[in-house]
Amino acid sequence: MAQGPQRKGEMMKVWCFILLLSWFTLQLDANPGLKVRITQKGLDFGKEIGMEILKERIKEESFPDWNDSEKFGLSEINYLLSGIRIDTIEFRNTAISLIPGTGIKLTIENAYVIIKANWNIRSWMFKGSGRTTVVISGLSITAMLVMSMDSTGHPSISLDSCQMIASGVEVKLHGKNSWFYNMFTKFLKKSIHRILDSNSCPNLRQEIEIIDMELRILQILIQIDDFAQIDYSLVKSPAVFQSYIDLDLQGTTYPVGNYPAHPYVPVPFALQDSSDSMLYLAVSEYSFQTTVFAYYTTGAFNIIITDEVCSYFNITTETFGSIIPEVAQYYAESQPVMLNLTATKTPVISLQTDAFTIEIHGSMEVLAVLPDATTQSLFTVNITTNSSINLTLFDQKLIGSLCLNRFQLSLADSNLGFFEISLLENFFSYILHSEIIPSANAKLTKGFPLPNLANISLKKPFIKVEQGYLWISADVNYEQ
Ligand SMILES: *[C@@H]1O[C@H](CO)[C@@H](O)[C@H](O)[C@H]1NC(C)=O
Ligand SMILES: *[C@@H]1O[C@H](CO)[C@@H](O)[C@H](O)[C@H]1NC(C)=O
Ligand SMILES: *[C@@H]1O[C@H](CO)[C@@H](O)[C@H](O)[C@H]1NC(C)=O
Ligand SMILES: *[C@@H]1O[C@H](CO)[C@@H](O)[C@H](O)[C@H]1NC(C)=O
Ligand SMILES: *[C@@H]1O[C@H](CO)[C@@H](O)[C@H](O)[C@H]1NC(C)=O
Ligand SMILES: *[C@@H]1O[C@H](CO)[C@@H](O)[C@H](O)[C@H]1NC(C)=O
Ligand SMILES: *[C@@H]1O[C@H](CO)[C@@H](O)[C@H](O)[C@H]1NC(C)=O
Repeated sequence: MAQGPQRKGEMMKVWCFILLLSWFTLQLDANPGLKVRITQKGLDFGKEIGMEILKERIKEESFPDWNDSEKFGLSEINYLLSGIRIDTIEFRNTAISLIPGTGIKLTIENAYVIIKANWNIRSWMFKGSGRTTVVISGLSITAMLVMSMDSTGHPSISLDSCQMIASGVEVKLHGKNSWFYNMFTKFLKKSIHRILDSNSCPNLRQEIEIIDMELRILQILIQIDDFAQIDYSLVKSPAVFQSYIDLDLQGTTYPVGNYPAHPYVPVPFALQDSSDSMLYLAVSEYSFQTTVFAYYTTGAFNIIITDEVCSYFNITTETFGSIIPEVAQYYAESQPVMLNLTATKTPVISLQTDAFTIEIHGSMEVLAVLPDATTQSLFTVNITTNSSINLTLFDQKLIGSLCLNRFQLSLADSNLGFFEISLLENFFSYILHSEIIPSANAKLTKGFPLPNLANISLKKPFIKVEQGYLWISADVNYEQ
């Protein structure tokens, strides 16, 4: 009788669990701000490098001594291999292929390995030792790797299945009386087959586990500069297609050490179905917009222009006096002028086909700097600028440069009374072109760092702006 309610309790737990799980799945199904695509061409290139690295690693690896014993007539023969080193390793046919929806298939066919070691064979009747050469040929491995995402948004890789076959094992013993001991090599061969059978796949698994560990500690929060950092965590597990793997990344920028709520929502977007380059990277309007928001909240859009930073000319009350007669009336003697530019709201980014623009709403206060270093406000104008951003890739960074499309001025406040703003427009257009835009461009050369890929640089990058995102395609170079 008591079982009824208890069952109900259990069912509730199960339901809660399922609800919780689906809630998490919803959370994980967030839209990405960035997409990275690695194509078959990229994987083939990666495979060549990977095989070289693997060869080097295997050659440097030291193997534990190995001993065994075998019944021989009435007695027992013990043998020991020590100082085992891989002398030569040739991977003849290797391939990496994508199994859509599943994972990555790695095949090594007909590999060839030469092992050098010390041998020691003994029984109650005899005892000998020397050097040995073991040749393993026709070694083939087929492994299936599965990519996923861990709870912190790091990529993860694991070995799903693995098969190994070695068709030939040759053992040659060298040393005193080795002609005699070579009679026993059939035992060694048998044991080596056994070792290969029982160790190859576990060893591969271990290598994959090392890679997995490296992936899990990959830095996914990358600092752009003192002010901003970008989150490169995955938003969902890598997706495997016929000719590429797509990674969806967060791509949100935050001010350093601070995660203020921002009003932007990533909009779904799809990369076109191309796979001619090794690598594709798509950056959404959302990603850029959060970057701009991070900089806006840290005050990076505020610039003060004074005599010292103004390299082309000295702006003085006299300069303004020639445009606005009221200024000349107030300042009989010429005084230096300071411009205080501030963004009054978050600049807006817009990505349209072949057009990347930023609109900045700001104010500029014009102040006279008096001999006692105090300032007097002359007037404040509101400025709206719309600029194109020209992007280039340099040194693994996406670097923008601004080009002013248009700007509007309106008088917001004046201590000189009302005056005709149109008089100022040409003058400010000049200041914008000669001072403000170059100053902003200098800040922009810090760039937007691309995901950190160890020793890999981009070759022949191509950038294209689309509605809502821009994408970059490139081949890669590996420098050791
Ligand atoms: C291998 O060597 C260890 C330590 O010398 C010994 O305990 C073990 O019995 C040996 N194994 C075989 C199969 O001879
Ligand atoms: C600007 O003023 C400084 C002194 O305040 C002077 O040395 C400099 O030559 C001036 N520059 C121009 C371009 O007039
Ligand atoms: C520049 O303007 C901002 C906003 O109006 C103000 O907070 C800041 O104190 C000003 N800076 C100077 C040096 O006047
Ligand atoms: C800048 O101006 C262009 C052309 O008028 C317009 O298409 C674009 O949306 C503007 N940029 C922003 C961020 O509003
Ligand atoms: C963009 O920058 C590149 C390199 O600095 C330059 O060659 C190109 O003319 C620029 N394009 C525009 C539209 O300004
Ligand atoms: C200037 O900008 C400020 C802040 O954005 C706004 O409150 C004010 O109404 C604007 N004034 C004019 C004349 O556009
Ligand atoms: C990257 O290159 C440096 C030398 O420039 C080398 O020491 C390091 O091992 C390389 N890293 C990888 C992952 O290949």
